Amino acid sequence: MARINDSYLKLKAGYLFPEIGRRVSAFAQANPDAKIIRLGIGDVTEPLPQACRDAMVLAVHDMGDRSKFKGYGPEQGYEWLREKIATQDFKARGCDIDASEIFISDGSKCDCGAILDILGSDNRIAVTDPVYPVYVDTNVMAGNTGDMNDKGEYDGLVYLPITAENDFTAAIPTEKVDLIYLCFPNNPTGATATKAHLEAWVAYARKHGSIILFDAAYEAFIQDPDMPHSIFEIEGARDCAIEFRSFSKNAGFTGTRCAMTVVPKSLKGKTKDGQDVELWGLWNRRQSTKFNGVSYIVQRGAEAVYSPEGQAQTKALIQFYMENAKIILDRLTAIGISVYGGTNAPYVWVKTPQGLSSWDFFDKLLSVCNVVGTPGSGFGAAGEGYFRISAFNSRENVNEAMDRIEAKFKA
Ligand code: MLT
Repeated sequence: MARINDSYLKLKAGYLFPEIGRRVSAFAQANPDAKIIRLGIGDVTEPLPQACRDAMVLAVHDMGDRSKFKGYGPEQGYEWLREKIATQDFKARGCDIDASEIFISDGSKCDCGAILDILGSDNRIAVTDPVYPVYVDTNVMAGNTGDMNDKGEYDGLVYLPITAENDFTAAIPTEKVDLIYLCFPNNPTGATATKAHLEAWVAYARKHGSIILFDAAYEAFIQDPDMPHSIFEIEGARDCAIEFRSFSKNAGFTGTRCAMTVVPKSLKGKTKDGQDVELWGLWNRRQSTKFNGVSYIVQRGAEAVYSPEGQAQTKALIQFYMENAKIILDRLTAIGISVYGGTNAPYVWVKTPQGLSSWDFFDKLLSVCNVVGTPGSGFGAAGEGYFRISAFNSRENVNEAMDRIEAKFKA
């Protein structure tokens, strides 16, 4: 009989968000009149920017015109999109990133998992705790970990706790690790990293020959002009980092699908026998073999983000969600609940009130207020006692959710 990948059996029963979805569906079935407000998964609710929609409509017409029709596109993405990203997202912020180092994809989540294809199976891997579960689960699937212990931690991973005491930014490890997953602005805590903090990570990675896998999916939500948006703003990062970015949250592309991964040509890893190899070539080979690119129509939509209208419209979208975040922060603070994040990120990290566990607060909020959030413990053991509230929703729903929470949880 054919063998399966046994590593899948080490995984927790369900991926966090579908698991929440199942619990909410069960509640909704049992309580059909409940008006549930979903502030759980960070999924956008507002329409796509007009500039993106217009560009996609034009692209649909191109596809109906023999002279402009496109079949397979370049697996790495169209040159016109990669150039705009290199110029406006990177060079404009002083990052030395060339268009050829930008690979367009259909999602950061997918790329965070796929990147393991070009990395060895015997790396020592560090993740923060709490952490975006994809980094951990994809390593479990790839066979890079041992079993899960009672705390929900996997043998073989190095967990770096991020807590209120360290401002939700992990201390640089004293031991040597080969791969480090960092996410700033952080999912789930909403924390940001200063330039000095990222400099310390780059110095560590260069010293140990480690690679930083930097998830910048929420960079557009940074409001503080001094905060770095990219790891490549740090000198030396070209030799030790890969960056993931997405159009999902800044331009509302969660259902449209477009993202990018930046692999500098100067980034090297080692073969088993100690030879240096450029990772760019491996990723290019991987993408050419396993991926056929993002659709022409979607890439035209993404390109429109960089037009003057697209820039103004995405900025307005981000401001809208950040105003939601401020409402959540202000209203929860006013009723005596401790909150973090939410000022440079669309997530508010809440200390659960009344000493409730993360899942108990989830159940209570769902049953009493009909509001869905994400239990902090779902992101890791150190997330216990915390809860994530997403700012991605309509203003009406955010206000209504806060009214309901205030009515039931006011101290
Ligand atoms: C989240 O809620 O953490 C995100 O929506 C997950 C994702 O972007 O995949």
